[in-house]
Amino acid sequence: MHQSKIAGIGYYVPENIYTNTDLSRFMETSDEWIQERTGIKERRFANRNEETTTTMGIEAAKIAIERAGITARDVDFIVFATLSPDYYFPGCGVLLQREMGMGEIGALDIRNQCSGFVYALSVADQFVKTGMYKNVLVVGSEKHSFAMDFETRSRNVSVIFGDGAGAVVLQPTDEPGKGILSTHLHSDGADAEILAMYYPGSHANKWLKDKPAYPEQELGGLFMTPEILESGAALPYMDGPAVFKKAVVKFPEVIKEALAANHLTEKDIDMLVPHQANLRISQYVQQLLGLNDDQVFNNIQKYGNTTAASVPIALCEAWEAGKIKDGDLVCLAAFGSGFTWASALIRW
Ligand code: ACO
Repeated sequence: MHQSKIAGIGYYVPENIYTNTDLSRFMETSDEWIQERTGIKERRFANRNEETTTTMGIEAAKIAIERAGITARDVDFIVFATLSPDYYFPGCGVLLQREMGMGEIGALDIRNQCSGFVYALSVADQFVKTGMYKNVLVVGSEKHSFAMDFETRSRNVSVIFGDGAGAVVLQPTDEPGKGILSTHLHSDGADAEILAMYYPGSHANKWLKDKPAYPEQELGGLFMTPEILESGAALPYMDGPAVFKKAVVKFPEVIKEALAANHLTEKDIDMLVPHQANLRISQYVQQLLGLNDDQVFNNIQKYGNTTAASVPIALCEAWEAGKIKDGDLVCLAAFGSGFTWASALIRW
C-alpha cells in the first residue's frame, strides 16, 4: 500500500467582490448584522455569463496540476465535488475532462455539500493507496450566486455563500509518515431536510401536496413548474440555529477521531483548516479544542462560505502564505448538509 500526498494545490476565486453593504442594495440587511453573526465581510460572485462551476474548477485545477509537475494528460482520475453543478446532469467531472483535453479517464461527481471536498479527498486517497491511480485530480467548486435568492425573504441564507474553486492533485509517496494519514467520513440523515434544496427532486409531492403549487394531474408536473418557482419552494432552505448546534458538536468530534486514530492530540496540530461555514462556528470549535490562533486558518471573511470549495481554497491560501510547512500536521474538517461530516489528517 502506498501513502498518498498532496503533490499540487491551487485555487481560483472570481474577480467580482460583493461587500455586505453591496448586498444591502438587494435586501434588508447590514454589514453589522452579517459580520456579527457570520464574520463575513465580503464574498466573490462569478461572472454571470462567462464563469461556471466547471470553469472555476478548471482554473484551480490548472494551478494544482502545474504545481504537481504533471500535465492534464497525466491525470488518471477526476473527483469533482459540488452542490451547484453546471447541469442537473451530467456532472461537472466530465465537463472538466472535456475542457482540459484529458484522456478517457474516469470522472466521479461527489454530492456531499460542505463535506464534499473531504469526502472527495478520501475517495481519491483510496485509489492512490491501492495503486490503482497515480495522479488523481480532486476539485471542489461552487457557483452559488446563480441560484440564490437575493430578496429579504432569503437573507439568512444568501448573505453567507460565495463562489470559488479549489483543487489538489494526489500522488503516491514513499516518504515514510508523509501524506494523508487517515480520513474519517460520517453521515446522519435524520435532519436531511433542515439544510437542503428540495427542488428539482423526485420527492417534490411530499413538500407540495398541500400547497397551491401542487399540479392537479396524474403524472409529472412536479419538475420546476412556473407554480413551483413562483412559490419560492425551489430555493435553498436552512434552519441556521439547528445547523449551528450540530456543527459545533460534530466538528470537534471528527477532529478528535482523526487525532486518536493516529495517536496524536490537539497540541500536535500545526494547522486546522475547517470548512468555512461561519466564523463563529470555527471560533467555537477552536475554543472547544483549546487551539491557539496560529493553529487555525480562516478566510471566510473574504470569500463567504464556498461549500465544497472552502477547504481547498483555505488550505491553498494557508500554504501560499507560508503557514503550512514541510512536515506540519494539517487537519482538514468539514460539516454540512445531510448532515455529513468528515476529517483528514495530513503530514505535509
Ligand atoms: N440581515 C439582517 N437580519 C437578518 C438576516 C440578515 N442577513 N438574516 C436573518 N435576519 C434576521 C431574521 O429575520 C430574524 O429576525 P426576527 O428576530 O425579527 O425574526 C433574526 O435576524 C434572527 O434570525 P435567525 O435566522 O434566528 O438568525 P440567527 O441569529 O440564527 O443567525 C445564522 C442566522 C447566521 C445563519 C445562524 O443561525 C448561524 O450562524 N447558523 C449556522 C449555520 C451556518 O453557518 N450555515 C452555513 C452554511 S451550512 C454549512 O456550511 C455547514
